[in-house]
Amino acid sequence: MRARYAKAVAHTWRRGDAADLTSDPLELVRYACLAASSHNTQPWSFELDRDVVLIRPDFSRRCPAVDPDDHHLYASLGCAAENLVVAAQASGRSAEVSYDPASTGVRIALGEDGPSGSPLFEAMFARQCTRTVYDGRALSPSELRALESLPQEEGVSLLLLRSEQQKRAVTDFVLEGNRVQFADPAWAAELRAWIRFDARTAERTGDGLYGPVMGNPDVPPWFGRLVMKMSFSADAQNRTDHRNIDSSGAIAVIHSAGNDPQHWISAGRCYERLALQAAALDLRTAFINQPVEVSHLRAQLAQYLGIGNRRPDLVIRIGHAPLGVRSLRRPPAEVLVAGRPEHVP
Ligand SMILES: Cc1cc2nc3c(=O)[nH]c(=O)nc-3n(C[C@H](O)[C@H](O)[C@H](O)COP(=O)(O)O)c2cc1C
Repeated sequence: MRARYAKAVAHTWRRGDAADLTSDPLELVRYACLAASSHNTQPWSFELDRDVVLIRPDFSRRCPAVDPDDHHLYASLGCAAENLVVAAQASGRSAEVSYDPASTGVRIALGEDGPSGSPLFEAMFARQCTRTVYDGRALSPSELRALESLPQEEGVSLLLLRSEQQKRAVTDFVLEGNRVQFADPAWAAELRAWIRFDARTAERTGDGLYGPVMGNPDVPPWFGRLVMKMSFSADAQNRTDHRNIDSSGAIAVIHSAGNDPQHWISAGRCYERLALQAAALDLRTAFINQPVEVSHLRAQLAQYLGIGNRRPDLVIRIGHAPLGVRSLRRPPAEVLVAGRPEHVP
């Protein structure tokens, strides 16, 4: 990895002090932006008021091919909201989250009477989507208990699949999803547009999928596009996904009772909470969302899981592995739409 990229990573992921939130409200936005987002699009903007933060969808960052109904876009807002809640609580503030119908975003009311800290604050700097092979170990009973006992948002549930038979079934859905997606030129073009083949481009944009984060070398963009043209195939991706799922200790499925932005945001919050708890346990997570992105597979997955009309929102593999290369973020000032308040007491 280039030295400059390593410096940008260190800056993006620097561990701040929760106390800084009282003197610099932009820190709250920075922590929120460390959350996961689909293709690292960071499809959000923030409006900061004294006691209220509004996280709005940024539709200029939509991914209509992979995410035609904006499910992932709203789930990403939920991820950012959850990080913001954790950061606020770490600084002793309460954070009341609600859906804002006017903006179809998230409203977070901050109060002075919060808990005295948050056990997941540290995990915000450790969480990442780790797309490497894991070590094949099952999750221990205490790890499973810690994940299963996480509180879920209203209407949202978490299923943890652990048997070899369940892993094989999910693998089959993922492989079929790859076949469908790789056959769609619009899907491939959209993915290519969010790939950052070299560190210079990744640093300049502060978003997207940097090659080494995805397990590929840093190469000049022209060369990356050429290699992609020649070697991009469902078969190659299937071999990778097969091996990766096989090496994971468990698969989480987040599903919800409703199929609307409010529930998608809640599902995103539950994912981020799960990923933070996993990171706190030194567990790695990575999405394998193909079965929920291809609509006919989503229906088949719901049937396989026996969850009736509920929507399977997100599929995540979990296991043990070293941390991988980190992704970057845009600077907080770039995602702030309203004026920066002088001071949040
Ligand atoms: C709703 C949602 C869907 C995602 N889907 C996928 C996916 O299908 N495959 C994948 O590898 N990563 C997926 N991601 C992970 C993002 O690419 C990742 O969060 C982003 O690149 C930032 O990296 P980080 O989470 O490691 O900081 C998804 C993230 C979100 C929030």
